[in-house]
Amino acid sequence: MKTISLYLLVLSLLIVISCKNVVNGTCSDFDNKTDSILALMTLEEKIGQLSLFTSEMDQTGPFIKREYEEEIKQGKVGAIFNAYGADYTRRLQEMAVNNSRLKIPLLFGYDVIHGHQTIFPVSLGEAASWDMEAIERSARIAASEASAQGLNWTFAPMCDIARDPRWGRISEGAGEDPFLGSAVARARVRGFQGDDLSSTNTIAACVKHFAAYGAALAGRDYNSVDMSERVLRECYLVPYKAAIDEGAVTVMSSFNDINGIPATMNRYILTDILRDEWHFSGFVVSDYTSVTELIQHGTVPDTAAAAAFSVNAGLDMDMQSAAFSDYLEILVQKKKVDEKTIDEAVKRILKVKYMLGLFDDPFRYCSREREEKELLSDENRAAARDIAARSMVLLKNQGSVLPLDKMIKSIAVIGPLADSKRDMIGSWSAAGDFNKAVTVVEGIRAKCPSARIIYAKGCNIDDTDQSKIKEAVAASRNTDLTILVLGEAANMTGEAASRASLDLPGIQQYMAEEVLKTGKPVVVVLMNGRPLTITRLNDYFPAIIEAWYPGTEAGNAVADVLFGDYNPSGKLPVTFPRSVGQIPIFYSEKNTGRPSDPDNKYTSKYLDESNDPLYAFGYGLSYTTFSYSNLTLNRNEIDANDTLIVRVTVKNTGKRKGEEVVQLYIHDRVASVTPPLKLLKGFVKTEIEPGEEKEIVFKLTAEDLKFYRGDMSYGCEPGRYDLLIGGNSVDLISSEFSLVLPL
Ligand code: NOJ
Repeated sequence: MKTISLYLLVLSLLIVISCKNVVNGTCSDFDNKTDSILALMTLEEKIGQLSLFTSEMDQTGPFIKREYEEEIKQGKVGAIFNAYGADYTRRLQEMAVNNSRLKIPLLFGYDVIHGHQTIFPVSLGEAASWDMEAIERSARIAASEASAQGLNWTFAPMCDIARDPRWGRISEGAGEDPFLGSAVARARVRGFQGDDLSSTNTIAACVKHFAAYGAALAGRDYNSVDMSERVLRECYLVPYKAAIDEGAVTVMSSFNDINGIPATMNRYILTDILRDEWHFSGFVVSDYTSVTELIQHGTVPDTAAAAAFSVNAGLDMDMQSAAFSDYLEILVQKKKVDEKTIDEAVKRILKVKYMLGLFDDPFRYCSREREEKELLSDENRAAARDIAARSMVLLKNQGSVLPLDKMIKSIAVIGPLADSKRDMIGSWSAAGDFNKAVTVVEGIRAKCPSARIIYAKGCNIDDTDQSKIKEAVAASRNTDLTILVLGEAANMTGEAASRASLDLPGIQQYMAEEVLKTGKPVVVVLMNGRPLTITRLNDYFPAIIEAWYPGTEAGNAVADVLFGDYNPSGKLPVTFPRSVGQIPIFYSEKNTGRPSDPDNKYTSKYLDESNDPLYAFGYGLSYTTFSYSNLTLNRNEIDANDTLIVRVTVKNTGKRKGEEVVQLYIHDRVASVTPPLKLLKGFVKTEIEPGEEKEIVFKLTAEDLKFYRGDMSYGCEPGRYDLLIGGNSVDLISSEFSLVLPL
């Protein structure tokens, strides 16, 4: 009897686990539905479902190529991307459902990365908020706006860990750490998909770029990735898995090769790990033409082989390369691809269409009414302003220059990014219209209506023309305070935007130092999508705010932070190096056999640079200060079933209300694999009143101590652990405990 009830329990658990991705409806519901459609489909129609093509845009508006139009009508296209707008997507959807034999609706995909029409901070900036509620809210609003315009699928979240800021796409992710990256990935999936994918304001998420795209060698976009199985599993794969566990229904294969096999034809990645280990039941789409790019990779001789290898590896949908539509039929006839493989792919795609409710009403996401009401609404803009302020990181505030006094009489706002609408919304800003963005000059004018504000560009972002510096110096001299807005142009980060130098581009540093010579107080606002090597800026300037690319409400949010209407609470999700030569530099480094010792040459260090970063992971200041004390553990020993309860008192020791991100790290003292010196295992963002003391509680179990052991099995090891808590990854108070396991 006991055995039977145990069996039933395990079975029901298994069903729950395998149905985790089914957001609405039961597994068998969808299976029955997809099976019954599949039974009616010709091979040509099946292959059609596996094809995704782009819509285009010219002066007359959006359009779709004639050949795609014909194919849509014949049911030979599964999805369209880059098409949005209620009327336009309705027209395309009508083409499919009014003309094709089986009336299978189209999916409409788009890169809704950090907002749709209302643009939020670039993803790295959002991650710097360490505020999962805010990140979820941003994705929810993005989904809501996108779905009003006919979209039902976003190519996000980007879950690539990145430890090399030369790589421009570091701006699209959540930084260097798998724990933080996982929390952000989950928040984004919840935001996009909600808890009912068939709601008209939720859209399907796409976990990308699978896998390890962020580890491109030398930070050069699209470059090869070569890494150990251990690093892959313990770091890079973790956020993708978290997003999938949260219910993301699609995945995008990456452009890169991993240890010699391109991801798009990598059976180990797409099938063994994704499907067999992780039980992912949604579909996998290629990244753009990564199927035909297999030829350039040198792993297949021609397009037919590219199609065969990728579909056989586990790729379900071909974005744009037409390799599937041109070759799969013949490959089936020649028995190079089993029709059953195609059937499985079709079923996965149809299932997502069912989940989105497209078979009930293919036009459910095309709403003119919602389009008019929701896009860039006051409410959405207010959220963008709030989240942008939350994402900013106060890097330096010597002598409490900040916050500024609103009664100030005159301000010079200087710099190539101070009044550049185009750059406020960053790269991958989807349907965002930069003309709707608020610049820093505009934000400051609105904040201080009676102050005299002088704007001077000072220089362009990346040229050597010094002619504008004089005007900037004069503006600074003639005003009480100078705000310098410096950084990178939006198109210097994002895809195909790797940089070999991470210095401020052009003559910005020189211009800034000329302005500083006026002796007026100077505050720097940085806009960039990656860590920059700003050691010199840090040496000379008293106050620096990292604002990333803040989005549509950029200038207002910057003004909120500068003038103290929002007390900055962001913390860096990625280490800022002192110089490019330190890269890759990240907080979770190992001790090595020869840890750096200034008195011993033969230790791990540079001759010409410190090992320390300029700003550490987790670092960020506030207009108030916090102290940490009373770190206590409920026990100093746990076993496999115990819970370690960690308490710490955080006090606001300043005069302003502020939010602190309390971070918990662990260090395994001795393990079968060289342990990182610290690993983030928990964080809590909390608001604390001036003078108030808050007790923050964390719970840890043996599960949190698991890692890939010497033999690559995943588990924990007994021994002594350090537990470290603080407001960044360097200034930490510590305690210790043991994990005791039966022999
Ligand atoms: C290429 C990019 O790598 C990917 O992130 C994006 O989603 C697709 N193009 C579609 O635009």
